[in-house]
Amino acid sequence: MDKNPCADYKHKMSYKNVTVYYASGTGNSYRAASWLTDVFDAENTRTHLVPVDKAVPAQQQQQTGSQQLVGLYHPAHGLMPPWSMIHFLLFRLQRGKGAHGAVVATRGGIPLGNIIIPGGGGLALYFPLLILLIKGYRIRGAMGLDMPCNLLNVHWGITPENTERMFERAKRHHDRFSAALLANGPAFRTANLLWELLWCVPFAFYPLLPFIYLTISRVFMAKLMFADATCTHCGACARHCPRDAIKMVGSPKTQTPFWTWRCEACMRCMGYCRHKSIQAAQLWGVAVWWGLSFLSAVILQHLYVNSGVASSQWVAPHTTYLSWALAFFGLLPAYYLFYGLQKIPPLRWLFTYTTLTRLYRRRYHAPDTRVKDVANGQM
Ligand SMILES: Cc1cc2nc3c(=O)[nH]c(=O)nc-3n(C[C@H](O)[C@H](O)[C@H](O)COP(=O)(O)O)c2cc1C
Ligand code: SF4
Ligand code: SF4
Repeated sequence: MDKNPCADYKHKMSYKNVTVYYASGTGNSYRAASWLTDVFDAENTRTHLVPVDKAVPAQQQQQTGSQQLVGLYHPAHGLMPPWSMIHFLLFRLQRGKGAHGAVVATRGGIPLGNIIIPGGGGLALYFPLLILLIKGYRIRGAMGLDMPCNLLNVHWGITPENTERMFERAKRHHDRFSAALLANGPAFRTANLLWELLWCVPFAFYPLLPFIYLTISRVFMAKLMFADATCTHCGACARHCPRDAIKMVGSPKTQTPFWTWRCEACMRCMGYCRHKSIQAAQLWGVAVWWGLSFLSAVILQHLYVNSGVASSQWVAPHTTYLSWALAFFGLLPAYYLFYGLQKIPPLRWLFTYTTLTRLYRRRYHAPDTRVKDVANGQM
């Protein structure tokens, strides 16, 4: 068995207070964050493990001076931190005034035989580091950490054996990180940081890419979910949603989840539903996107040509972008239509049996991790 690197560390100086803020859908980032607080708990340091959706500025710890360590843990969502973490960083995280800061972006690794193909964090790692610097923190550690990929609406899911293997590996990597922070840092690995930097290269060419992804994931990807006929109307998905994004619609005995625009596709509802009742209607997504793009392209073409602004040849490339923009605004109303159509049994049956999520069957959340703990942290 591997020796825990934290056990041998001679402390240069210990922190008095460690506060870790995390965003986590299926528990990976929560578990990694708890590995850090466990190490400091063992040293009798005061620790707090706070989900960002419950972090209130007035209650934040005194984050000043080098005896304070503030950790940020979250998943990579399209090479960016999730919305909830971005919002927290920009508007609610207090100024550091010399406090130390560390960032861990968990990313989706994919096992292939004996190797694990690393995921990519990109700005999920570098954006929080930049904000910490701007807010007056001293950076003492940063890492992209491979954990099982939870992108269940497009992914067939990882076997329990591979999940266990990946967790053990992630824990070993994180132990080295914790050990370095326990000794007051620095906790960096050059290869890891360079790998994450490589994932930032596309943003240099297309700076709008992260924002486009974050918006599309919110109004499109997050709008493909629905509960199939196996739903027991228990409401657990709504109760545990970190964004309060699910409304239960109907009487208590028949209520079904309705996904509002607040959903940031963290996958907690899908990963933790006991009955695996939540599916993602990929086919509907493709149909809606192409239908809306086509419709708005036709409308724009007519408007341009009829108003004499341009000839039909000249207009074509411009309408492509404009039609995408128009299609984008059609996505939210399309979800209302989708929700309405599910009330018609043959259509609900069709949606259910054409989803990939039903075909894969597998669901994911961090092993041995209760949804209640992920939702509440240890404050
Ligand atoms: C919407 C979405 C987007 C994702 N994007 C990425 C990505 O860009 N790169 C990556 O390596 N993993 C990506 N993943 C995988 C997660 O980052 C990874 O599984 C993470 O450990 C999940 O952490 P959590 O359980 O704390 O939410 C994505 C997952 C979701 C749900
Ligand atoms: S989708 Fe799952 S968690 Fe949500 S109400 Fe139905 S059975 Fe309960
Ligand atoms: S609705 Fe589901 S996927 Fe969306 S934020 Fe809530 S728990 Fe996450």
